Amino acid sequence: EYFFEKKKQLIGKKILINAGPTHERIDPTRYISNYSSGKMGFALAEECAERGAKVILVSGPVRLKTIHPNIFRIDVESAEEMYNATLSKFSEIDIGILCAAVADYKPLYYSENKIKHKANEPFSLELTSNLDIALALGKMKKSGQILVGFALETENELSNSIEKLQKKNLDFIVLNSLKEKGSGFQTNTNKITIINMIGKQKEFPLKSKKEVAIDIVDYILSL
Ligand code: CTP
Ligand code: CA
Repeated sequence: EYFFEKKKQLIGKKILINAGPTHERIDPTRYISNYSSGKMGFALAEECAERGAKVILVSGPVRLKTIHPNIFRIDVESAEEMYNATLSKFSEIDIGILCAAVADYKPLYYSENKIKHKANEPFSLELTSNLDIALALGKMKKSGQILVGFALETENELSNSIEKLQKKNLDFIVLNSLKEKGSGFQTNTNKITIINMIGKQKEFPLKSKKEVAIDIVDYILSL
């Protein structure tokens, strides 16, 4: 063994990761989305692959590449496509890491034609709720499977995260601090707090998303 070789603690494990935003189509020229870059999910996919896991990466529209041969990538656009891709793979995997910023709503109607601009008239778009992927997987989860979620809050960070963790039957949730400068969407760094099922919290300093991925994978291995 080489000294610099990573410990391959995840050999034989199959890990599902979803990442990035979703795009919810309004008409042929427009969509609703959010600021997710996909960087955290892709860093996790790389880290898991480097440690020997087989990774299924279900990715929304992002500007990122995957190179590791252990990563099998499925590109999707909408929350519905991500839901279908993710649920269809769940029975065969050991660990699910739900990193995607799934759009909560989509337009109720898709317009086949471009919606025309009418000056001086208010315009409103009717939205309908998307399905919750984490909630569905939490219900499907079998003993031995580990499910990890993410949370990003602007208020009541801890109590909201704990509520999500319990409602979605996650093994732990990674809270991304938006308050910290350099953390959250579009950045290369994150400051996280991991909260587990018994409410125990572990706070980490601001780190690169690669280092955060190492911390999260180490935490999974400690379970
Ligand atoms: N999630 C999901 N499917 C959705 C919405 C969220 O799988 N339709 C997952 C996210 O990937 C994340 C976790 O649920 O792992 C928490 O996402 P978040 O958006 O913070 O939670 P919501 O339940 O959507 O609550 P809200 O947006 O109102 O805070
Ligand atoms: Ca949400």
